[in-house]
Amino acid sequence: MTTKSGFERRTFLTAALGSTAVLAADVACGSPVGVAPIAERRRFEGKVVLVTGATSGIGRAAAIAFAAEGGKVAFCGRREALGQEVEQQIRQAGGEATYSKVDVRDPAQVQAFVDAVVQRYGGLHVAFNNAGISMAKGLHEVSLEEWNDLLDTNVRGVFAAMRAQIPYMLSGGGGSIVLTSSVQSVATRKGSSTYTASKRALVGLAQAAALEYGTLGIRVNALCPGTVDTPLSRRQFSGGRPMTEEEFQAAAAEWARANVHGQQRIATAEEVAQAALMLASDDHPYLTGSSFIVDGGMTVAL
Ligand SMILES: NC(=O)c1ccc[n+]([C@@H]2O[C@H](COP(=O)([O-])OP(=O)(O)OC[C@H]3O[C@@H](n4cnc5c(N)ncnc54)[C@H](OP(=O)(O)O)[C@@H]3O)[C@@H](O)[C@H]2O)c1
Repeated sequence: MTTKSGFERRTFLTAALGSTAVLAADVACGSPVGVAPIAERRRFEGKVVLVTGATSGIGRAAAIAFAAEGGKVAFCGRREALGQEVEQQIRQAGGEATYSKVDVRDPAQVQAFVDAVVQRYGGLHVAFNNAGISMAKGLHEVSLEEWNDLLDTNVRGVFAAMRAQIPYMLSGGGGSIVLTSSVQSVATRKGSSTYTASKRALVGLAQAAALEYGTLGIRVNALCPGTVDTPLSRRQFSGGRPMTEEEFQAAAAEWARANVHGQQRIATAEEVAQAALMLASDDHPYLTGSSFIVDGGMTVAL
C-alpha cells in the first residue's frame, strides 16, 4: 500500500524502531489479504496502554509499538535515564507516552502508578505486565533473599499490577491484560528452578483471572517467549563477563542451533512485542486464558 497514511505509519515506525526492526516485524507478521500491513494498523487508537518493565528489552519494544499504533502509553521501570529516553523516542516519533519510575516489588508504588495513569489518561484499556528478572543457579544455592526478590518481582509484582488494574477495567467496561511468562513455564532447564516457578505461576494467574473476569469483558493471556535478544538474555549469555557483539552473536547462534529446533535463531524484542500487541488487541475477542508460545519452534521437538 502506498497511501499517505501508510507512508506516515512506516516513517513513524522506522523512526521509532530503526528500519531493520520494521523489516523484521513486517516479515514476522506478514500481511494476509484483507489485513492492513503492520505499519498501517492503528489497533490501539484512543486506548490507554500500561506497560511494566519498558525501560529495555521486550517492554521497550512493546511500548514503542503500542504508541506507533495510536496507544497512549504509560510505562515504568526503575532506571530513570532509560525511561526518559524511551519516552522521548516515542514523543519525537509523534506518539504519546509517559514514563514513571516504579519498582514493581513495592505494591504501594504499583497501585500509585496505576491510579496516576488512569487520572492522566482517563481510563485503562490494555495492560502488558512484563517486568521481570531471571536467575541461573542450582536450587540448593538459591538464598531465601534471592527467591523472594525474584518472586516479588516476577509474580507478586504482576499480581499487584492486576489487582490495581482490574477495578478500573471493570468500571470502564472491560480490557485486555497480557502477562509475560516464558517457555520455561512449559519445560525447564538446569539452574532455572526459581525462574520456572515464577513463570509457571503466571500461567496459573492468567488462567484464574480469565475465568473470574471472562463474562465481565476482561481478557487475560500469558505470553510465553523463547530466547529473545534483550539485555536480560545477553547477561545470561555472557555470564556477567564483558562480551563483544561478535562474541554474543556467535554464542546466540550456537545456542539457537542446539535449542531453537524450528528456526535456529533467537527472537528480536520487536518480534515478541508484536505477539503481545496481537494478544492485547481487539482482533481476537475470544482469546483468553491462553499461554501463547512465541519461541521459533524451541519447544516443538523432543
Ligand atoms: N529475553 C528472553 O529471552 C526472555 C524469554 C522469556 C521471557 N522473558 C521475560 O520477558 C520480560 C522482559 O524481559 P527482557 O528480556 O525484555 O529483559 P530486560 O531487557 O532486562 O527488561 C526487563 C524489564 O523489567 C524491568 N524490571 C525488572 N525489575 C523491575 C522492578 N523491580 N520494578 C520495575 N521494573 C522492573 C526492567 O526495568 P528496570 O531495570 O529499569 O527496573 C526492564 O525494563 C521478563 O518478564 C522476562 O522474564 C524474557
